Amino acid sequence: MFGLERGRVLSEIPRGFLWGAAISSYQCEGGNTASDWCVWERQKKLTAAGDASRHYTLFDDDFSLARETGLNSLRFSLEWARLQPAAGGWNEQEFAHYETVLSSLAAHQLVPFITLHHFTLPLWYAARGGFENPRNIDLFLRYLREAAVRFRDRAVYWIIFNEPLVYIVNGYLRGIWPPGKKSLSSALRTLKNILSCYETAYQEMKQIYGSRECRISLSKHFRVFFPCNRYHIFDRLSSGVRAKSFNFWLDDLLARRRLLDFVGVNYYCGEFVRTKGLFGAECAHTGHALSRNAVGWYLYPEGLKKILMRLKRLSLPVIVTENGTAETDEARYAEYLRRHLEQVAAARAEGVDLRGYFWWSLIDNFEWDLGFGPRFGLYRVDYRTYERVMRPHAALYRDLIRGAGGGR
Ligand code: BGC
Repeated sequence: MFGLERGRVLSEIPRGFLWGAAISSYQCEGGNTASDWCVWERQKKLTAAGDASRHYTLFDDDFSLARETGLNSLRFSLEWARLQPAAGGWNEQEFAHYETVLSSLAAHQLVPFITLHHFTLPLWYAARGGFENPRNIDLFLRYLREAAVRFRDRAVYWIIFNEPLVYIVNGYLRGIWPPGKKSLSSALRTLKNILSCYETAYQEMKQIYGSRECRISLSKHFRVFFPCNRYHIFDRLSSGVRAKSFNFWLDDLLARRRLLDFVGVNYYCGEFVRTKGLFGAECAHTGHALSRNAVGWYLYPEGLKKILMRLKRLSLPVIVTENGTAETDEARYAEYLRRHLEQVAAARAEGVDLRGYFWWSLIDNFEWDLGFGPRFGLYRVDYRTYERVMRPHAALYRDLIRGAGGGR
């Protein structure tokens, strides 16, 4: 519909547009034994991340692949537990490691996006109550300051929190991620602390950067919610409650307080909701046209444009910091990428100030409680040899980027 094959609309995307892929430290580095997830896996007898995708040693090769795919930016996270394995001091060797990572990104002409918190915590921090304990906020800020001072000459873009609401829902309401709580009051306390932590973090980061260029945000997960039965008033109510409590209020609030330099959007799918408790429950739904991916998500590309159009009223630049799928049929990745980029192009054509798009993920990696089953990578990882193999949609992504003027 937007003629992506011929690059018709993407060609209107300016040269500085950020074409990227995203990864996170715990999911791909391997060897993160000082993080709370490592203990959680053991306690819950889950698949262990272990060596993950061995990105800790193979990062330079991975960045070469990113470059070969035509990308000009890469989003990654620092593993706090590596940098500060105990409450006391800093691990200089690990800071040096991330220095090398940043040098490699620069050498590959990849603009770095640094995420500070992507779901994992150092064990010592989790033992003190993590973000649920307001006294711990300052300890996170110390980590932020240290990272910002050391890397301010190397990075402009910072994502302070990845998907804070997903983190709170899974860790404090559903209890399926650490710390495994199922308590509304714990969830609300954690939310309050994360919000005040973000506010101070934003201000401190700006001070540390001074006159240097610095763009700060968080990556917010968005979904489009549908009632399981659209003729059922309570299903409609429940899906409305989910949409209200999950989607826009956080960015609306931060934008009002001038605490966002851009809006970071993670978007994957739609979700059907039926009546149950306060927030309803997910339901499987068969009587509609949406297909499901390998992890059961309902694919709804039009939802991306809907979300982007709604964010337009914040009058801020927008960056899609994650979008992707896990499939068993390789051809379906390309279909997903193409259909979502159509929505990106359409939203831009209708005035959304879109500055970048990041596929999740550069390489297959550890998918939290789902282990290594779901594969999200532009590159397939062979977990016996750690060889990376380009998937067809990575070639499509490269061609579309080229058609759009290269982005370089
Ligand atoms: C998260 C990633 C995760 C991906 C796929 C995102 O919401 O930031 O950590 O792997 O979704 O589930």
